[in-house]
Amino acid sequence: MNRIAVFTSGGDAPGMNACIRAVVRTAHHFGKEVIGVRRGYQGMIDEDFFLMEPQSVSNIIQLGGTILRSARSHDFRTPEGRKKAYENLKSQNIDGIVAIGGDGTFTGANIFMQEYPDISIVGCPGTIDNDLYGTDYTIGYDTAINTAMNAIDNIKDTANAHDRLFFIEVMGRDAGFIALRAGIATGAEAVLIPESKTDVDNLIHVLENDYKKKKNACIVVVAEGDDTGGALKIAERVGKTFTEYEIKVSILGHMQRGGRPTCMERVRASRMGVAAVKALMNGDKGVMIGIINQRITQTPFEMACKTHPPLDEEMLEVAKILA
Ligand code: F6P
Repeated sequence: MNRIAVFTSGGDAPGMNACIRAVVRTAHHFGKEVIGVRRGYQGMIDEDFFLMEPQSVSNIIQLGGTILRSARSHDFRTPEGRKKAYENLKSQNIDGIVAIGGDGTFTGANIFMQEYPDISIVGCPGTIDNDLYGTDYTIGYDTAINTAMNAIDNIKDTANAHDRLFFIEVMGRDAGFIALRAGIATGAEAVLIPESKTDVDNLIHVLENDYKKKKNACIVVVAEGDDTGGALKIAERVGKTFTEYEIKVSILGHMQRGGRPTCMERVRASRMGVAAVKALMNGDKGVMIGIINQRITQTPFEMACKTHPPLDEEMLEVAKILA
């Protein structure tokens, strides 16, 4: 292995900087040079490369976002784009890459490695959605659930003051991990997630019971990818027949993607970054680093992207019993 490149791609996530830092410092520790690629796959095509020294990553472990920036590249989806990226990487003498991103990132990496097997890629899971198979936690998830929890706590204060029913939408296009954890942590009356079909009549029944129990306010946490179409739509449907509370909608949106990474985030991202470089030096490729039961693991890209992590039935039960 001559030179290792590192990039971030897809939706940014808090903790990506901690992972970049770990990659750069570990590579230098083992005497390898590191090239930073800005704006993901698009940066490979545009030759947006720069040499990274251990000091290049000083004072970034606590920062959200990504110092390497991120992008979703349309050009990289074409064979011509990938060829250009390959030629640019070769001209920089790069033969190993650490890719930090989600399923789109690893799908791209898999195709690229099949076409150009002399470049090895190892991935670190970076997405707030936690929707990758092969790891208990993705980078960004812990911070995002804490951000969502704090925001919902704030909304609960005002909901209680005004006897209101709030539908609060959290991120999760395909997965309900954020919604379920944030819902449990804030004592939500209901949690709606894409993995299970929403029974609207039952939801109204639950809310009617809560009203009869004289609850001051109700919170329904809705994952953006829920089959009802999100918080605005379900609020409208419920509001047609259930008029006991004044209904409000709050969409948390991209605030969940930013902010200072939590302690666990920084530690996990650091461990994954170190493991990714060691894996490359060991000759491993086409795998995503993960953490399962506190241990570092590797999962082939194909499996990490195509297998949906199973719905946690126990968590769902906890949310329902405690609502
Ligand atoms: O990072 C994943 C995610 O947060 C999804 O839950 C969400 O749908 C998506 O990103 C939105 O990202 P963007 O606005 O960057 O397209």
